[in-house]
Amino acid sequence: TPGVHVSGVWRFESLIMPGAGEAITSHPEGNTPLMARTRVNAFAGCDGLLLKHEGYNPTGSFKDRGMTVGTTQAVRTGATAVACASTGNTSAALASYAAQAGIPGLVFVPAGKVALGKMAQTLAYGATTLLVRGDFDACLKLVQEASRELGIYLLNSINPWRVEGQKTIVFEMLQQLEWNAPDFIVLPAGNLGNTAAFGKALREAQALGLITRVPRIVSVQAAGAAPFAHGFRNGFATRQAVQAETIATAIRIGDPASWDRAVRAIRETDGLVITVTDDEIIDAKVVIDASGVGCEPASAASVAGVRQLVQSGVIKASDRVVAVLTGHVLKDPGILVELHQERADFAAANRPVEIEPTVQAVAD
Ligand code: F0G
Repeated sequence: TPGVHVSGVWRFESLIMPGAGEAITSHPEGNTPLMARTRVNAFAGCDGLLLKHEGYNPTGSFKDRGMTVGTTQAVRTGATAVACASTGNTSAALASYAAQAGIPGLVFVPAGKVALGKMAQTLAYGATTLLVRGDFDACLKLVQEASRELGIYLLNSINPWRVEGQKTIVFEMLQQLEWNAPDFIVLPAGNLGNTAAFGKALREAQALGLITRVPRIVSVQAAGAAPFAHGFRNGFATRQAVQAETIATAIRIGDPASWDRAVRAIRETDGLVITVTDDEIIDAKVVIDASGVGCEPASAASVAGVRQLVQSGVIKASDRVVAVLTGHVLKDPGILVELHQERADFAAANRPVEIEPTVQAVAD
């Protein structure tokens, strides 16, 4: 129908929340592109690399896919308020969907550690915003206690409906590939909700006979926030929280909530968990940005991860790989100003040039 857009989440309604019907709260969202970019592929060393750009969602990150389903469930259960802890993207999505549903939204974010674009969105969409003096892990603990005691509907990815929505990243990607599954799906990992969702989606796609071969999931963590990668190295025999620090504030998480479900996803897909340094993240981001695609720092971890696995021989140049870009370049304008205008030592800086308003100055 002209003027009516079909949601890339709700066209999979029967696989995520059958019968949601009237309660559906949708922008719509999803229907994100799968892109091939020569420069990015040359950087990664992989000819068959495709970028699934989730920054094309309405609030600029993949979180919209989980939030449309989570908010719909909040509507169905008559919730009087919704809440989440966030490094910024979940809060932006919650604020937007809660506004649409007409339910008050409450977000808990680590004070001083949320990228500017995300904070701006959260405030603009009207969520009550609590700047918690602590990290994301402290925010998550607090929101769980507060929602239990105050009767607020919790919309972090420990809420299974969030995971249901995020499964559609995989369904949609497989459909775009005409159900010819890639060899690897590579994604940045923080709280591990998305890794868990990808594992569940692949399990279900295989059970339904939509795919015959299961791609290997590669979860990429920032080296300074890598408890899941540490666990992977010892076969997930132990679990140790860390004090997280990384330039990729979206994944600055030391004690991920969806650990067990993510372990299952890695095991079932013969997956891998690796780390990339902040320098590797920035190197990848610079190339993704300069290719005209752009993404926020955490998203670039996926391409940095592909490059590393090509160099170590795990991924072959001819393999078919999908790297998920989880958030839009405008999510974190602060890092761009820092890299291109403020930091004297940044070799790839594209410095703006201030001039007098004369043609001579332009020519110079
Ligand atoms: N990429 C981006 C841009 C994110 O915002 C997040 C998580 C991730 C990757 C990692 O996904 O947590 O499912 O492993 N952001 C959450 C938030 C924590 O609050 O916005 P994950």
